[in-house]
Amino acid sequence: MAKDFSQMEDSNRSSNPSIHDVSDPARRMVLRGGAAAALSPMLAPLAAAMAAGLSGGLAGCGTMPGSGPRIGFTPIAASAADRITVPPGYTATAFLLWGEPVGVPGNMPAFRDDAGNSAADQAVQMGMHHDGIHYYPLDGSRRGLLVMNHEYTDDGLLHAGGMVPWTAEKVRKSQAAHGVSVSEVELKDGRWQAVRPSRYARRFTASSPFAIGGPAAGHALMRTAADPAGRLALGTFNNCASGMTPWGTYLSGEENFIGYFSSADQPTAHERRWGMRKNGWGYRWHEHDDRFDAVKNPNEANRHGWVVEIDPYDPASTPVKRTALGRAAHEGAWVAVTKDGRAVVYSGEDARFEYIYKFVSRDRIRPGGGKANAELLDHGTLYVARFDAGGRGRWIPMRAGEGPLTAAAGFADQGEVVIKSRQASDLLGATKMDRPEWLAIDTATRWVYCTLTNNTARGQPGQPGVDAANPRANNTMGQIIRWKEDGDFDGEGFEWNHLVLAGDPANERPEAKGNIKGDLYGCPDGIAFDNRGVLWIQTDVFASQMNRGEFQRIGNNQMLACDPGTAETRRFLTGPVNCEITGACWTPDGRTLFINVQHPGETPSERSNPEEPRRFSNWPEFKPDGRPRSATVVIRKDDGGPIGT
Ligand code: FEO
Ligand code: CA
Ligand code: CA
Repeated sequence: MAKDFSQMEDSNRSSNPSIHDVSDPARRMVLRGGAAAALSPMLAPLAAAMAAGLSGGLAGCGTMPGSGPRIGFTPIAASAADRITVPPGYTATAFLLWGEPVGVPGNMPAFRDDAGNSAADQAVQMGMHHDGIHYYPLDGSRRGLLVMNHEYTDDGLLHAGGMVPWTAEKVRKSQAAHGVSVSEVELKDGRWQAVRPSRYARRFTASSPFAIGGPAAGHALMRTAADPAGRLALGTFNNCASGMTPWGTYLSGEENFIGYFSSADQPTAHERRWGMRKNGWGYRWHEHDDRFDAVKNPNEANRHGWVVEIDPYDPASTPVKRTALGRAAHEGAWVAVTKDGRAVVYSGEDARFEYIYKFVSRDRIRPGGGKANAELLDHGTLYVARFDAGGRGRWIPMRAGEGPLTAAAGFADQGEVVIKSRQASDLLGATKMDRPEWLAIDTATRWVYCTLTNNTARGQPGQPGVDAANPRANNTMGQIIRWKEDGDFDGEGFEWNHLVLAGDPANERPEAKGNIKGDLYGCPDGIAFDNRGVLWIQTDVFASQMNRGEFQRIGNNQMLACDPGTAETRRFLTGPVNCEITGACWTPDGRTLFINVQHPGETPSERSNPEEPRRFSNWPEFKPDGRPRSATVVIRKDDGGPIGT
């Protein structure tokens, strides 16, 4: 996610008391040891339920029974170089670059190095700023679909001449560079490559139709002049992380959606709580597209901030916004399965002092893929998390008419609860977290992990102070929290502790030292388990902070492998200059890892000077007249073995 936008997204002014006012690092360390001892290998009890509904493999979704975590590679040093580095014995190759044709039959315009592609071209090319990604097998580990998010745009790099002049065509191109792509890929002659054309190739952009499912569908707050029924929204944008469901669909989180809207008047209290600004956040879509002008279309913003579900196996399917999961600046969404086969969807809201949610489906997952589970995520119970001191926590149900969620308080029905889930969570006394990013579920041990990437506002004057779960003021480095539900994944109580507080022990400020065991990093963002139970951690340090100050020794953004039992961490990959490393998925055999490199060469202002597109990086092509391009990176072990061994 973009630095400036995160700095601006700080809209929780609610006074729900921080009931956790004690930081107790010594106790946390004891808990870490205790939890580590408890992490014994056990059979994954979900395998049967998941297999029942799964169309393809489950790579990346959990641990394999009986195979303890093992990290076998030689860790690499931190790096400030403009390239990808991986351990000896591994090879990393970039493909699916921003602007390549996605492979729509009969419509495959080539990328222009001068950024001269039209909006129409961009709508059938790979989007900008690759993020969450998953692999959907078509032929096991040899051929499949890569579905990925394209989070946002650098409009200085996207358009010839940058943002001057700012035109309707440039707005359309920016909108077309956002969203999600579906690409067919295959391993041929030892090399992964795109299959073009492909009947599966698709782009979802800021203009694509999305059905609205769940309690907000048809709600008065979702109706607009263009969609008086409130059941069909246009577009998905700022899609950050992603989850693969056990029934074979893709979940994508609409993260900083509010940054695209602007109000010429002072925003309403509801709009302010969601971070809307009088003059927007800088995308300037509202200047040429009234849909993003909140005065002209006051309900349009309510139609964004959802988790969207896409069925990549059905090229004719209409994707759906799943409103039962709550509206939030969703980083992403990740699915666990209860012993009786219901879906439990975890999601967090990447904004300062916002919340962590879970949704428990009413119905069981059915065999038959996306079609058979078309309404699974529309019915169930939404909860928000409260982390109490003492290592215990509660999931607080969010039901209209219960507790403080009354009609008088603005929650006349469940539609209002989910549309205003931030306000509902404020009233319910949920814990204000340090920017929840990715979640990862260890299906063998049943611990759920969440990265809390940083929160420099924590403990500042007028801001919430530290609490047990968010124990550091001016938290530049971030932490990884984890919890285990009482009983099954639908439990309403849980125990929790921290896997790690990130940082560098050489730092002077105690809050920036951390307690990493092994190679150093800051600002954990992406996390995912491979099928051997190794937890992979990816980082998103702001370009303006990289390799300086408290981050001096930490290097460019990177990817590390962590044994969750011992917390031992080894650096596996370092990225090019000013990129973010994000997204991780494996082929079912665990022998190919796909990750994304987002915004190589990003300027500290996050908007490139169109006169100097190569100022900080020219990765991955290094063409003298080219420009840095987000890309997917394929990582293989030279001996063909599983990644990480
Ligand atoms: Fe898009 Fe929260 O990073
Ligand atoms: Ca981030
Ligand atoms: Ca992220």
